[in-house]
Amino acid sequence: MTELPEPVRPDDPPPTARPKVSPDDRFSPTVVREGPPETPAGWVDMDRVRANLARVMEYMSAHRLDWRPHVKTHKSPWLARLQLEAGACGLTVATPREAEVMATVASDLVLAHPPVGRKAERVVRIAPSVRLRVALDSVESLRILEAAAHSAGREVGILVEVDAGMGRVGVPDGSAAVALARAAESSPSLTFDGVLFYPGHIRTTGEERDRRIRRTSDRLLGFLSVLESDGLPAEIVSGGSTPTLWESHHFEGVTEVRAGTCIFHDRDMVQLGVASPEEVAYWVEASVVSVVPGVRAVVDAGSKALSKEAFRGEGQGFAVLMDPPQLAVGSLSEEHGVIDLEGSDWSPAVGDRVRILPNHVCVSVNLQDRLLLGPDSADSSLRALPLPGRGRLLWSGERRPS
Ligand SMILES: Cc1ncc(COP(=O)(O)O)c(C=O)c1O
Repeated sequence: MTELPEPVRPDDPPPTARPKVSPDDRFSPTVVREGPPETPAGWVDMDRVRANLARVMEYMSAHRLDWRPHVKTHKSPWLARLQLEAGACGLTVATPREAEVMATVASDLVLAHPPVGRKAERVVRIAPSVRLRVALDSVESLRILEAAAHSAGREVGILVEVDAGMGRVGVPDGSAAVALARAAESSPSLTFDGVLFYPGHIRTTGEERDRRIRRTSDRLLGFLSVLESDGLPAEIVSGGSTPTLWESHHFEGVTEVRAGTCIFHDRDMVQLGVASPEEVAYWVEASVVSVVPGVRAVVDAGSKALSKEAFRGEGQGFAVLMDPPQLAVGSLSEEHGVIDLEGSDWSPAVGDRVRILPNHVCVSVNLQDRLLLGPDSADSSLRALPLPGRGRLLWSGERRPS
């Protein structure tokens, strides 16, 4: 699976029309004048973010795929706008709050989570100018969404979520997919727009990854051909993840890729070989608060800053020092991270600051009140970026989000 991508010819049309993006100062970073920021704090390298966006778009253009980044990684409309300006066709959201906030910067959203109860009512009330599609896998959630769409007087596109091997959500077979697509087609408030799957079960490398991609792709093709032969061709086939990012074109039939983690990457993505350490754009800055030389060093970043996600690769711990000696943070309390110093001659002093790379960036970002943007090639100031997509309460949009 190492074929070279087809070159893009200058006269090729773009994969889809790009949305118009308007600036909104409520979401922009503000200059921080408070002196050295308190730790723990989530930091972002914007030069690396811009390079990551450019690399993803280059890959998508080479393979004529659309990129619909999942915003659960960053929760920031300001970063979402950069993704749209880079060429993303729209955004993926998982919660009504994300939909409400992102509807202010995007004209095309996919909710990749079946909405039930009040969630359906909230999501259909985002700005009517936004093209809204929702992924779901049951007649029950379709009916709930249909009722909400009807009372809001809007049309909602349905992406039938299929289980292509992950075993999370998704219809199990072609006939269930056809039943849902037909239910959408026969509703005055819904349209059947295509299929969505998430290859979250593929977190391996090399031949094992390629084998799983082939199997997933075969399953996907099975769903697509049953729909097609029932006169319900899928216009959109939405897939993708960051672990399979550079292999997205091997999922046959896919039209758009929802990879989100790739804006920052993390320890898992470096371990999987999806990103190099130089492409990781997010870390948690922490202070050393206690040291027993040769035994342990304790930092002020615990599970409430780093998150307690198990490392899926070789090695251990919940995070790793970004700079040498790159020791793992082996155990976590809520506000303490413990680094084992046995066998290491690293001898930090209390008060030293360290940069820590969490296993899973999305969960760590969600634990931050804001992200700090360090000086970069475009801006020499230290800035604080608000994260209004965090949380679950209705976003009214009236005040600058904190
Ligand atoms: C439904 C769905 N789509 C897309 C993504 C994005 O994948 P990644 O985090 O690997 O970029 C996720 C991640 O959890 C997801 O659940």
